[in-house]
Amino acid sequence: MANVSLYCALDARDRPAVERLAGLLAPAVGGLKLGLEYFCAHGPEGVGAVRAAGRPLFLDLKLHDIPNTVAGAVRSVVALEPHYLTVHTAGGGAMMRAACGAAEEEAAQLGVPPPNLLGVTVLTSLDADALAHQGIAGSTRDQVLRLAALAHEAGLAGVIASPHEIAALRAAHGPDFHIVVPGIRPASGAGSGKGDQARVATPADAARAGATALVVGRPITQAPDPLEAARAIAKEIAVAS
Ligand code: C5P
Repeated sequence: MANVSLYCALDARDRPAVERLAGLLAPAVGGLKLGLEYFCAHGPEGVGAVRAAGRPLFLDLKLHDIPNTVAGAVRSVVALEPHYLTVHTAGGGAMMRAACGAAEEEAAQLGVPPPNLLGVTVLTSLDADALAHQGIAGSTRDQVLRLAALAHEAGLAGVIASPHEIAALRAAHGPDFHIVVPGIRPASGAGSGKGDQARVATPADAARAGATALVVGRPITQAPDPLEAARAIAKEIAVAS
């Protein structure tokens, strides 16, 4: 199995703290993920500061709007050279195709690598009950598989999915499809609490199931020693993959 990379989610607004964590964790992780909390507070300039840590960047903006608007937002962040950028698969095939086209065009124009676009399927904080309340019948897994097929067809590089869907997605989409997986919790010790994540697995199990990359936030950032926590998780992934 190929190497599975570990992305640490830096979900915070405190810019000096995020920059400090980025620098501290850079040698122990495969990449760093910035999401809406940080981006809404500090914008592209703040992203640039974290990029300075020298690790691949995952810009988790979960874009979801009409195709023209999402394409414009994608164009606006290509210059930041994120390795991964997220859009919501629920935006539909036309929106995802527009995002892909915009990423390719803008990257070619700027002479930078295009981001790998990932489709958010079903948030890992949602379970079957929550989906039922939204009027989505059937299992969470079926919904994830349907949305992933739509994403692949539209040209996305991969999807975000929970640990529980990795094996089925890998079987359906082959070895090159990126399956990036949050909802990771160490089996025991600091950071093993589920928090608001409903569909979780250990780093080793998710790596073995065939994930491309794992996203871990609070079990690292809230640990008494974040660098040690990141190293332990990276080691567990390396042994399993
Ligand atoms: O702290 P924790 O490890 O739960 O962080 C998981 C990260 O993955 C968060 O940044 C969250 O926004 C993100 N994420 C998720 N579920 C998705 C997509 C992204 O939890 N479907």
